[in-house]
Amino acid sequence: MRLHLISVGLVYGAIPLARVLGQTSPVANINLLNTLSNAAEEHESKVLSNLVSDLQQARSIPTPSTPEEALSALQHSSGLLKAFSSVVDIAQGITAAGLVPPEILSFLNGYTDSKLNSLDNRHPAPKDAIYPKSKRDAPYSLSEGTLRSAIHIPKTFGYGRNGKTPVILIPGTAIPSGTTWYYTFSKLGNSTDADVVWVNLPRASLNDAQVNAEYVAYAINYISSVCSKPTAIISWSQGGLNTQWALKYWPSTRPALQDFIAMSPDFHGTVVEAVICPALSYIACTPSILQQAWTSQFIQTLRSSSGDSAYVPTTIIYSSFDEIVEPMSGPNASALLTDTRNVGVILAHLQSICPGQPAGGFYTHEGVLYNPLAWALAIDAITHPGPGSLTRLDLKQVCGMTMAPELDLTDLLGTEGLLLIAAAELGTYEPQAAREPCIVGYASNGGGA
Ligand SMILES: *[C@@H]1O[C@H](CO)[C@@H](O)[C@H](O)[C@H]1NC(C)=O
Ligand SMILES: *[C@@H]1O[C@H](CO)[C@@H](O)[C@H](O)[C@H]1NC(C)=O
Repeated sequence: MRLHLISVGLVYGAIPLARVLGQTSPVANINLLNTLSNAAEEHESKVLSNLVSDLQQARSIPTPSTPEEALSALQHSSGLLKAFSSVVDIAQGITAAGLVPPEILSFLNGYTDSKLNSLDNRHPAPKDAIYPKSKRDAPYSLSEGTLRSAIHIPKTFGYGRNGKTPVILIPGTAIPSGTTWYYTFSKLGNSTDADVVWVNLPRASLNDAQVNAEYVAYAINYISSVCSKPTAIISWSQGGLNTQWALKYWPSTRPALQDFIAMSPDFHGTVVEAVICPALSYIACTPSILQQAWTSQFIQTLRSSSGDSAYVPTTIIYSSFDEIVEPMSGPNASALLTDTRNVGVILAHLQSICPGQPAGGFYTHEGVLYNPLAWALAIDAITHPGPGSLTRLDLKQVCGMTMAPELDLTDLLGTEGLLLIAAAELGTYEPQAAREPCIVGYASNGGGA
């Protein structure tokens, strides 16, 4: 992540929340805005206080009326145009461009209380022991109960008895899982034979990515075990790293995963212009962000011993206009994995596959989540053996669309609005980390053959 949070002495005062939220919003729904304004005050941060003040005025800014208008407004929003933007700058640009209408702000605002993000879900123990599942697996540092209760399973989930493919959603950095997927892939079951669950990671995945991977490893083996069939994963951003780490160090997960579908993954971390957490950027200094630097120990460890090559059929979708992960085009794109194990890898760079067409246009790090090619390939992968295939798609039709046909304008705006939550989570993370966590014993001993 490029993080350049400039802080100057400016204390933000009380926020008239009712004005932002309108009359109908429940009083309890004050989390996001309270968090942002408290963080602005605590850190004396001008970018955060500007964001809060723009949110206060968001109601009076006209909202785009089509996805095309929204993407154009997004492309020209000042936060995305500025070089060296931070997540907070970008969130502010999006807000100032009218991309956060009141009903979306109201939903995002309640995210900390939302059951969608609960770490306390109750599920029965699996029939067969999976903790651990194999002697070759790395040891877990967390209890089985902790790992299992982080899995969110919707009431409609069929446990494989309905013939549907179970799909596990793994979130990215700084946004809780249930909120991340609310506007996009939680709806996958409406358009294809997929049955979706998701993994809620503590502190919005800002803690140690090695521990985040434990949740992923356990979830793969739990869901495939209770469904008696292999499962698929759709990840976003850091979720791709967590999944690849789980596949490397918990080999028992490989036969349990029929497809790994990675949206905007940073398998090589992201290039940063200076030190990732210089003094003024203290707001955003967290373990998993430090681990996602291009040269971090975590990235080097993951990529060693062919960890930069796929373990299962892998479908990777990424965009040149990713504002968080860089580079995201050309031979050094962070999203790339090789295929030395011949399991099947497809690298879907939106702008190369749909050049000059709507689906190859301005899609951000989060924009990939509503892109039509991303949806078409994900569905193709889940419904066929091996990774997604472009030759099975009607590319003329898919590239001609702006949004996945399963979604609408609200889903686009809601997904972009997720950056507001990232700003709040980064602004409140404690304790700030000075360096990345040590590499865990099983990985520093060269495991994961
Ligand atoms: C399908 O769509 C309906 C209506 O939008 C929604 O209520 C339902 O939860 C969706 N189902 C799934 C599995 O996403
Ligand atoms: C990719 O990275 C290599 C090694 O750092 C560098 O030499 C090369 O110029 C890069 N290629 C591009 C297209 O940026």
